[in-house]
Amino acid sequence: SEELTLRPQLLKQYIGQHKAKENLSIFIEAAKMRNEALDHVLLYGPPGLGKTTMAQIIANEMGVQFKQTSGPAIERSGDLAAILSSLEIGDVLFIDEIHRLPRAVEEILYPAMEDFCLDIVIGQGPSARSVQLDLPPFTLVGATTRAGLLSAPLRDRFGVLSRLEFYEVVDLCAIVERTADIFQVEIDKSAALEVARRSRGGTPRIANRLLKRVRDISQVKGESTISIETTQKALEMLQVDQAGLDHIDHKLLLAMMDGFRGGPVGLDTIAASIGEESQTIEDVYEPYLLQQGFIQRTPRGRLVTPKAYAHFDREVPQT
Ligand code: ADE
Repeated sequence: SEELTLRPQLLKQYIGQHKAKENLSIFIEAAKMRNEALDHVLLYGPPGLGKTTMAQIIANEMGVQFKQTSGPAIERSGDLAAILSSLEIGDVLFIDEIHRLPRAVEEILYPAMEDFCLDIVIGQGPSARSVQLDLPPFTLVGATTRAGLLSAPLRDRFGVLSRLEFYEVVDLCAIVERTADIFQVEIDKSAALEVARRSRGGTPRIANRLLKRVRDISQVKGESTISIETTQKALEMLQVDQAGLDHIDHKLLLAMMDGFRGGPVGLDTIAASIGEESQTIEDVYEPYLLQQGFIQRTPRGRLVTPKAYAHFDREVPQT
């Protein structure tokens, strides 16, 4: 699919995340020199920053197979045992949302990660016995939004902890230009920069999605090159504002200002008032609003900042 071809296959094609890339390239090179499996890697950070892509790149760079599953998809320890026993030497097993693994399943993972050993119980009741199977050395790549969501014993079993950050505008701009190139459309530098600037401070997934819609509008207008004018009009149609906030960001900030005098207000209260899940707000919406300084976290709850009031052309309420 188009989505798949957009994904870079190798580290040198991966734009941005300089720190993570620099570290991983050294660990990968060293593991290859020693002819060993790469140590287990935990990738963490807000959604949409390329954790799955990075996991696939790790497998490609190591020249091994990539197997993918997710925390919520593995319900019973038998499910995990089946996946683990299908692995071959050096393979990358990617577990997305690894913080959502059931506890009993997580416990199977400890000896598998540490000693490449699968501890399973066969049978039930008095005739049950535990058997141990050897696994080939493999690399577990786990992904989660925050490292703190993992239990300490699980977190401690990763040799490499790598945090993915929001992208710089220059990097996002390069991603937009790369994607336009793959789509075989021309885009003015100023237009690419505008898409980058307004992609919620830095998620390639959102930048590429916006570019697709901008491309549609430009194409229907019969433009040969995507212009800044078309881009601005398209972003307006898509309800992405000058700061890159979308309509859910607006709903959240307005609910806090109008319903709670700007806070402090608890996460669950905000969630209930706009009909979104607390976890979604915390993982998807808050990180960008916090990073951009539109809200603050305090011990008594979330607080709307003067910057947010200014963004909506409003006065900060007097307390
Ligand atoms: N497409 C999506 N994310 C990307 C990245 N980080 N580098 C290059 N292309 C991408």
